Amino acid sequence: MLYDYEDRLAAPVRLKAASLQRDGRLSHVIFSKQFDRDLLDHVCDLATKVRELARLPEGREFLGSLINNRRAMLYFTQPSTRTFLSFMAASQMLGLDCNEIRDPSLSSEYKGESTYDSIRMFSSYFDLIIMRSPKARLAEESAYLMNDLRESGMRSVPIINGGSGADEHPTQALLDIYTARRSFDITSSGTPSAFKKLEHLKAKYPGFDEGLDGKTYCFAGDVGRGRTVRSLANLLSLYENVTLVFVSPDDDRYRIQDDLRQRLHEANVTVREETRLDAVIDDVDLLYMTRIQREWDKDTGVAPGEEPDLSGVHLTPELVARMREYTPILHPFPRNEEIPTSIDTDPRAMYFRQARNGIWVRAALIAYLFAKDTDIVRKHSRFFNERHRYNLGG
Ligand code: NCD
Repeated sequence: MLYDYEDRLAAPVRLKAASLQRDGRLSHVIFSKQFDRDLLDHVCDLATKVRELARLPEGREFLGSLINNRRAMLYFTQPSTRTFLSFMAASQMLGLDCNEIRDPSLSSEYKGESTYDSIRMFSSYFDLIIMRSPKARLAEESAYLMNDLRESGMRSVPIINGGSGADEHPTQALLDIYTARRSFDITSSGTPSAFKKLEHLKAKYPGFDEGLDGKTYCFAGDVGRGRTVRSLANLLSLYENVTLVFVSPDDDRYRIQDDLRQRLHEANVTVREETRLDAVIDDVDLLYMTRIQREWDKDTGVAPGEEPDLSGVHLTPELVARMREYTPILHPFPRNEEIPTSIDTDPRAMYFRQARNGIWVRAALIAYLFAKDTDIVRKHSRFFNERHRYNLGG
């Protein structure tokens, strides 16, 4: 029955993931557990190809012709800067026309239209719906609505979750993984100095190697309600022998939730929980900072003055000085007081590059959803091999 999703929402994640794909390809992107390592690698490699093509006028022209004459709706009823803008930039880069609704009081929802009716209307006008909502399940329900419409022979379009309640933010996790991969892909340039750097790091930090396996990832801040943390932790659990350290203020609100703890346990991830960054900072391979998600305190009636001591999850220049020399500092942003701006010039501060990576990863994901990935791979190979031959005089 249309609009009845309770059973599907309660189903095991494996079954839910299966219902969100068709013919071996994702048809909607709702949660991070839909990705396995092969798909992660594919999207990340595609993102690099998009990035390289976008550097050149001919590459930009090619990208802009990939999905033209199609339209995307950005339905963002929760505040957003980076996710909204980078999705828009990514869509436009691929030739999609974009429209947006950011304030439901300016749409017919103000006149009492149900959100489901609105979503269904969007699917009549648009070819892709990218959505962010304070309601944790809305993107997932919208995907089931699209599946039901398709089954009834009606028009249905892909849904991408751009952030759902305090639950998931799968595309942020994709760009975080992409950023981590770039940070730990030390010799990809193939230059002698890159190999020298790797040798130096291996000598200084025994056990260090390239790639995401075998590393210690530290999340600090409101790891309980930060949806980016939940989504990224799921993706990191796909890698071998990883340790996840969660540093949060000593209060249940901020600690990781039981469902995530359980999932990580089942995935054989080593999990440590701490209350102060200074207990772990020396030995982490990647630091993922997050803000305190105060907007959720409105519902619990907790006033800012009632917050516990948060200093344990604030990064300071002194802590940064103790970090390993290669450890990237990530932050999904917006930041509050947890990273002082004086840290921004440290070469390990990766958060602005991380945000820019969102454009490439989101363009890659949209291209994949529209089955345009092979076109990108082919064009990239033809383009760069030809240039290579040309440069060699061939
Ligand atoms: C995050 C979000 O909205 O979940 N921001 C983002 O999309 N980059 C993080 C946050 O709001 O704290």
